[in-house]
Amino acid sequence: MNDRCVKQKFAAEITDGEKVDDLFLLKIFEVKQKKDGSPYVRAEIGDVTGTLSCFLWGVQGCADQVTETASSLQVGAVYRVRGNAKTYNGSMQVSVNEGIADFAEPVPSTPLDPEDYLTSPVKGLDLKGGIFRMANEISDPELRHLVLEAISSVDGFFIKPAAKGRHHEYRGGLAEHTLETARIALAACDATRVGIDADRDLVIAGALLHDIGKAFCFEEQGLGFAARPEYDLIGHVTLGVSYIAPFAKRLPPEKAAHLLHILQSHHGPHGEVPCQTPEAWMVHLADLTSATLREAADDQADLAPGTGKRNGWRAGGPVWRFE
Ligand SMILES: [Fe+2]
Ligand SMILES: [Fe+2]
Repeated sequence: MNDRCVKQKFAAEITDGEKVDDLFLLKIFEVKQKKDGSPYVRAEIGDVTGTLSCFLWGVQGCADQVTETASSLQVGAVYRVRGNAKTYNGSMQVSVNEGIADFAEPVPSTPLDPEDYLTSPVKGLDLKGGIFRMANEISDPELRHLVLEAISSVDGFFIKPAAKGRHHEYRGGLAEHTLETARIALAACDATRVGIDADRDLVIAGALLHDIGKAFCFEEQGLGFAARPEYDLIGHVTLGVSYIAPFAKRLPPEKAAHLLHILQSHHGPHGEVPCQTPEAWMVHLADLTSATLREAADDQADLAPGTGKRNGWRAGGPVWRFE
């Protein structure tokens, strides 16, 4: 690698067994423990051509260096990555030992070309138009205006990710997941006899607003997004309900309570409040469908054709990619 902070090799060009020494964006990371209890960092690094798993093992006996390095890592920053590339379970990953020293601080952002690093699978999709068109399907004008105003008033709704990892974790992921959830929930409403008696407007509104709390969980950092403390300290469900509650005061009390219930219960049996109406179930199941399909597809995309693995990193179950 030269010293001019110019990328020479891109993620998609890296091959099995290759020595890596180049610049990559740190997308996400987590500190994990080896069997002997010593720490390592599992990260996702990447550039405009793709994403790689990266493991910061450090040097044997230097657990403190791993801990210290992890405490200063900045998601959204670009780091020099020196390590060895290896295909493992069908996915390319980079192992870093001595090169952990380069993670002590990111490379300066000034000479970097953001175009080398920024990418999103939803780039070019008209998610904003899709969401506004979906909101305009709401026949009750009061509820329709509430949804449009609530979404438009949130900073960065259309560019933020939907999660730190697992699904829709990229730029625009929140908008894509929101639109998918609304489309699936509405399809369930329109496809079933249950839907005849359901409040179609509330299904659309609940789906479009179900994860609005996530817009308060992320902020732009460097070339990416970092989770704010509220992500873990409060949680997006509570943040969303708190944000929508004042808007909901404009609605008749029953409708307001139903809308807030859909938001509060959208994690279904896994959440604090279980779904108690068909409309809430439609949004919960649509949310789960959108998230699970994205996880399964992204786990599969990590694999080489004709390979599988027992535990996809995102969905957590077995995954296979046919030739
Ligand atoms: Fe959610
Ligand atoms: Fe969601």
